[in-house]
Amino acid sequence: MAERMATLQVDGKPVTLPVREGSLGPAVVDIRNLYATTDLFTFDPGFTSTASCESKITFIDGDEGVLLYRGYPIDQLAENGDFLETAYLLLYGELPTAGQKAEFDYRITRHTMVHEQMARFFQGFRRDAHPMAVMVASVGALSAFYHDSTNIANPVERMVASTRMIAKIPTLAAMAHKYSIGQPFVYPKNDLDYTSNFLRMCFAVPCEEYRVNPILSRALDRIFILHADHEQNASTSTVRLSGSSGANPFACIAAGIASLWGPAHGGANEAVLKMLGEIGTVERIPQFIARAKDKNDPFRLMGFGHRVYKNYDPRAKIMQRTTQEVLKELGVRDPLLEVALELERIALSDDYFIEKKLYPNIDFYSGITLKAMNFPIDMFTVLFAVARTVGWIAQWKEMIEDPNARIGRPRQLYTGEKRRDYVQIAKR
Ligand code: SDX
Repeated sequence: MAERMATLQVDGKPVTLPVREGSLGPAVVDIRNLYATTDLFTFDPGFTSTASCESKITFIDGDEGVLLYRGYPIDQLAENGDFLETAYLLLYGELPTAGQKAEFDYRITRHTMVHEQMARFFQGFRRDAHPMAVMVASVGALSAFYHDSTNIANPVERMVASTRMIAKIPTLAAMAHKYSIGQPFVYPKNDLDYTSNFLRMCFAVPCEEYRVNPILSRALDRIFILHADHEQNASTSTVRLSGSSGANPFACIAAGIASLWGPAHGGANEAVLKMLGEIGTVERIPQFIARAKDKNDPFRLMGFGHRVYKNYDPRAKIMQRTTQEVLKELGVRDPLLEVALELERIALSDDYFIEKKLYPNIDFYSGITLKAMNFPIDMFTVLFAVARTVGWIAQWKEMIEDPNARIGRPRQLYTGEKRRDYVQIAKR
């Protein structure tokens, strides 16, 4: 088939650029030679029309509300497998055999402890520090402990660093929670699965045996699957850009955590719960819908809208079902769920939201579930980071192993002052 080309007219002269087709989704205009041949940059703040890389990991069809991890639909993975199976799939590209899964589970489980000095590192924080601040710092600090797995050119060291990061992030997250509530750290137990281990490290106390609720563990494991990866979102792009300079993987993941923290991104789950609390009752919903539509009011419906999904976020549907399952298991009737369901119903029938294609995203229901599971609101984005670490590592590994990988160095449209000479202070 003849190669597709795109032609640009620059000052009346045609500039022809190759078009590259993917296996799914939009093709791309390859502009790598544009500046060399036209002395022009492209301009795309927010990257609304820009593919920053080639990837085989996750595919999103925003119009159809489709999310595939290595080609497998998210709902099939969430219903049939566990989080470490998804982690293996994202990292290695195929679903593991029983033997591969057992080896991967064993390898991850036996890296869940952190260096004992890390417990002293935590002592430097105030008890009321936001757990995301603690996570950025402690994950970055891992590179101070594991010098033997930061040579990213060595595939064995890359695998060791990836294993350590995936294994230790729940331990650090649980330590951040325990530290904030003044309870002793709980060590991981090797006879528990990944998510049960995490729940126990968060909620066990030395005074009594902790029994993991299998319904809650399964629900949280499914929530981790839903949050594992999502193409080139802000935090994943941060990890890729950091890694493109050759920075060690622990430092890159710390950068990803910092980016995820923002309320427009992973911090939205925390912001949704605060918003639902501020709305308070179903009767007050109309005034908040009006505020969300008012251009002069900065208020937005948190948990609504998405850069890519212009349809219902497929993860939000599974999240809503999981929320109702958890509340039923716990016998919790949360009035905020009533507010959330009514808010969704009203918004989805409102022309403003229909016209702008604003649907609930993954963050809209996750907070209600995590609150019912007794996680403090400021731990919600930490849980998002625990799950997304798998996606960040898989994307980082793909970039490092790409023979064409180069340091990311975007340019700009400069609109500042032209050259001017220095003026002595006495003459200003
Ligand atoms: C995540 O990228 C990812 O994949 C992220 C994520 C992942 O898994 O990694 O999916 C996780 O971050 C989900 C998104 C969580 N954030 C929120 O829920 C915060 C609320 N949503 C928005 O701030 C917003 O929708 C974004 C940030 C999610 C998307 O922003 P865009 O694509 O830049 O869209 P925009 O801000 O330009 O909005 C387009 C229009 C605007 O109106 P106009 O200027 O065109 O008139 O829609 C309006 C906005 O005012 N709008 C909203 C709205 N979101 C967008 N109006 C009211 N409430 C909202 N929530």
